[in-house]
Amino acid sequence: MLETIRSRRSVRAYLNRQIPPAVEQEILQAGRCAPNAWDRQSFVLCKVGPDARGALAALTARHIGGVPADHDFFGAPLVVLVLDRRENLERRADAGCILENMMLAAQSLGLGSVWVDQFATLEDAPDLIALLDQFGFDPQLVICGAAAFGWPDPEEEILPRPLRSKIVALK
Ligand SMILES: Cc1cc2nc3c(=O)[nH]c(=O)nc-3n(C[C@H](O)[C@H](O)[C@H](O)COP(=O)(O)O)c2cc1C
Repeated sequence: MLETIRSRRSVRAYLNRQIPPAVEQEILQAGRCAPNAWDRQSFVLCKVGPDARGALAALTARHIGGVPADHDFFGAPLVVLVLDRRENLERRADAGCILENMMLAAQSLGLGSVWVDQFATLEDAPDLIALLDQFGFDPQLVICGAAAFGWPDPEEEILPRPLRSKIVALK
């Protein structure tokens, strides 16, 4: 576990290779095992298929700029959204635990991952609300986080990451 935690890095280039269903299932199950406030488990993990992915990328381009391809989750074979109910005030903290569980599971299985935050400022965007409605989600559900998963492209150069945060101790 400690080696998995230490070695995980964000991956932004993926091989064009599908993830076996059993591996995908392990990653999703790891997300479902995450700690969450009051154990409400009101979150939903959504695997994004090609049509939905295209619609989300186009919507992001409209809001953030660029073209849809710029927002296509680095071309990763698996994209997962974490949705939760607006009334869950801990939804973003919960999503952090869920996505970290999934990213560490992916790392331990030899896959890479990256958190993709393109929806963070769009929770109240009418077109995103309409799109989620079109996808058939309960209107109370909002996107709290998203991540891409896949086999890392060995050509991607991942620079070393010095740890700059502080540890302090109080008497
Ligand atoms: C809340 C959150 C949002 C992030 N959003 C993005 C993002 O939108 N795009 C991206 O490429 N990486 C994103 N990342 C990944 C961070 O950039 C990355 O974790 C950080 O640079 C440390 O590098 P490492 O993950 O390789 O250790 C996000 C990470 C977190 C935790």
